[in-house]
Amino acid sequence: MIKLNVNGTVHTLDIDNDIPLLWVLREQLGLTGTKYSCGIGNCGSCTVHINGEAVRACVIPVSSLDSSKQIVTIEALSEDNRHPLQQAWKKLDVPQCGYCQSGMLMSAAALLNKIPRPSDEDIDANITNICRCGTFNRVRQGIHLAADINKRGRT
Ligand code: FES
Ligand code: FES
Repeated sequence: MIKLNVNGTVHTLDIDNDIPLLWVLREQLGLTGTKYSCGIGNCGSCTVHINGEAVRACVIPVSSLDSSKQIVTIEALSEDNRHPLQQAWKKLDVPQCGYCQSGMLMSAAALLNKIPRPSDEDIDANITNICRCGTFNRVRQGIHLAADINKRGRT
């Protein structure tokens, strides 16, 4: 048995200890916004937050977690879909196919929590997610716009 605190709810799960968090989120909890791609920690499609830090859920065994760790997935990035990043992503049409974008958003959200007005260099250093559609320039623009929205105050 393991207890996981996901999006503010504690779940008690009867699962193998070595299962990666990604599969617990997707298959046990039905939180399919977190995506599987490389499965080896390289691409960032599976990014979630643990205690506010962006982590790659495909390489986090649930045995390393307990209910004291606050796990947040894309489904809980905002209650109203009005997070500054979500507003910026819509305004700039950031996604193409969209597959990598929940991971991008979670990485970007963790960055903005750490550095509210990131430079291009900060973005390049922190957003190491891979996008096969090549949306990197729009991701960067979206993060700058979200930082502006944050500064003006959410609408
Ligand atoms: S699926 Fe986890 S980093 Fe690629
Ligand atoms: S938008 Fe298609 S993989 Fe990134």
